[in-house]
Amino acid sequence: MRRKLAAGNWKMNGTAAALAEIEALIAAHPAPAADILVCPPATLIHRAAKLAGGSAVAIGGQDCHAEASGAHTGDISAEMLRDAGASHVILGHSERRADHGERDEDVRAKARRAMESGLIAVICVGESLAEREAANTLDIIGGQLSGSVPDMATGENLVIAYEPIWAIGTGRVPTTDQIGEVHGFIRARLERRFGAGVGRSVRLLYGGSVKPGNAAGIFAVPDVDGALVGGASLKAEDFSPIIAALEAA
Ligand code: PGA
Repeated sequence: MRRKLAAGNWKMNGTAAALAEIEALIAAHPAPAADILVCPPATLIHRAAKLAGGSAVAIGGQDCHAEASGAHTGDISAEMLRDAGASHVILGHSERRADHGERDEDVRAKARRAMESGLIAVICVGESLAEREAANTLDIIGGQLSGSVPDMATGENLVIAYEPIWAIGTGRVPTTDQIGEVHGFIRARLERRFGAGVGRSVRLLYGGSVKPGNAAGIFAVPDVDGALVGGASLKAEDFSPIIAALEAA
């Protein structure tokens, strides 16, 4: 059985005052029936991890470098994330692929380093609107999967987030059939590459405009094991009902 995962991606949002949201989540979910992850900006990881220590809320990063250390001004390594108290790292988010030119091979190298460092890699894949309209969605997702996921992936160190780019921050959500089609495809690809045991144990998250009002419908889709939530993860009062919907799914 795959344990469900509700993951929050704060992106470039949050200063010290926002730690109160993590405190509120911890208080609201003392023994959740799903895993909870918050990925704040790097400046808050250490404080967030201290706050969340011993609770059901895990803390993650939003990116890491592919090297352990070295002359890479401004970058953060997987080892540093671990040292700060992170257990997970989001990799290959479409905003990083777009803003920083990250290619599948970059994401794969980062994921390898993250896994070697003991982090769980949450690798993001997703098509643009033009790619969907050209009926290329599955080709794009298939290419991103084979390019971005390292061979050392297991059900313990890998989570995949399917995030259609056109659904991120837009309020537009695919139909449940569209989500189901892509998640089923990802599951089949993972089983083919890694074998049924590993392929069936990797958790698949949906991401893109998940809100309290649409979460239950999305979580009812087969092979949706949780969500990667952006905007609605910033406030505990929004994220908490999404977590509750996942626990009830
Ligand atoms: P959103 O972002 O929930 O604000 O659409 C999701 C994401 O980019 O992970």
